[in-house]
Amino acid sequence: MNRAGRLFSKPLFDRRAQLRCVPGLRTFAGLMILSAAACRRDGAAVGGTGGSAASTGGAGGGPLEGGSGGEGSEAGMDAGGAGSADADAAVDVRMDAAVDVRMDAAADVRMDAAASDRSVDAGLAAALKVAAAQAGRLIGAAIGASHLSEAAYATTAATAFDFVTPENEMKWDATEPTQNVFTFGSGDAITAFAQQNGMKVKGHTLVWHSQLPAWVSGITDSTALHEAMINHITQVASHYRGQVIAWDVVNEAVADDGQSLRDSIFYQYLGAGYLDDAFNAARAADPGALLLYNDYGAEGAGAKSDYVYSMVKGMLARGVPINGVGLQMHTGPADTSPSAAQVAANMQRLEALGLNVVISEMDVQICTSDEDTQSTRFHDIVGVCASEPLCLAVTVWGVSDKYSWLNGVSCATPQPLLFDDNYGPKPAFTGVLDAFRGL
Ligand code: XIL
Repeated sequence: MNRAGRLFSKPLFDRRAQLRCVPGLRTFAGLMILSAAACRRDGAAVGGTGGSAASTGGAGGGPLEGGSGGEGSEAGMDAGGAGSADADAAVDVRMDAAVDVRMDAAADVRMDAAASDRSVDAGLAAALKVAAAQAGRLIGAAIGASHLSEAAYATTAATAFDFVTPENEMKWDATEPTQNVFTFGSGDAITAFAQQNGMKVKGHTLVWHSQLPAWVSGITDSTALHEAMINHITQVASHYRGQVIAWDVVNEAVADDGQSLRDSIFYQYLGAGYLDDAFNAARAADPGALLLYNDYGAEGAGAKSDYVYSMVKGMLARGVPINGVGLQMHTGPADTSPSAAQVAANMQRLEALGLNVVISEMDVQICTSDEDTQSTRFHDIVGVCASEPLCLAVTVWGVSDKYSWLNGVSCATPQPLLFDDNYGPKPAFTGVLDAFRGL
């Protein structure tokens, strides 16, 4: 078993005991993923309809086997069978954590000190990914390739996080600015950085109405658009095959009012079937990646969440290879929209379909609030992910407030992230850390 697999073994066994899904439990890149549809939680039937292990498949005997760090031998293990492997795994977790990030016994002490002076502290930053790993989750950040030359940025990113989403570098306008001319330089810089630092990567995103190059927006023919979309997915997902553990295959396809699909160029020319086609093309190009649908405003309760739920349920029923849903979680500080309880309920119904979930782009703008309220918000939402058996990762949408995409947008300085402009850890950092530690 490789290091990543060991690192996540302990909590995965624990979670398996909470959720019974037969058959189809797999580990993928060290994380448990679920490829079966019918599950039981705490002994109660919560089974969805929809996909089977086979339906999420593709060529080569199932999409979720053979991924980096995947451990097929654990597939279908009974919840009661963890036994001594569980104890071994616990040792491995501790050893790997110590070796990987050189966390020492003083980390907790330094955490308290840094909370007041906010000095950059590698030991403290590293405690974040250790806590996430011990909870069996990945902790991610959106990374911008242009910032990697800034030492404090790169160091903070590599020290605190073990999961990367390229903030812009794998979008259509970055990867295929001219038709059939592919430019992977900045995306490759992200994957190289991740590889150098032992971080996993989620590709983002193959099909999205935004950040489209002009040549795509200018297409007025359904056949040409379909060919362009399939070619784009095929080329990009093939290029990054083996380097990403997951893809946001389709991003933000649902209208804000939750009554229909978004009136994008893809929906206009290709109809609703473009989503199925996109996921099938992604699976063909990368049999090993988790394939995700990603959206905002569908994290908790409401029409848009209901629409996304119905949409992915329908995809599973049609045998479309979708493995999970990303809940973006760009949010304000108040625990009201959506509440943590609503997010938990939404995750649970998606999990009951046999889908994994991730918090994919979290930030908490505090234009009109304070850091302590922000910390509570982060804590409560991350706590939901830490409690939900098939929530695999939490990604925050940036490393430092300094480069947040919300600067000057939601207000001048929304300060929405875990590290301040000088890479000092904020109360929000401690909120996330505590949530992963079960505090
Ligand atoms: C944002 C980036 O952060 C910005 O740098 C860029 O100018 C616009 O896109 N939902 C998504 C992300 O899925 O891709 C968006 O990222 C933020 C909203």
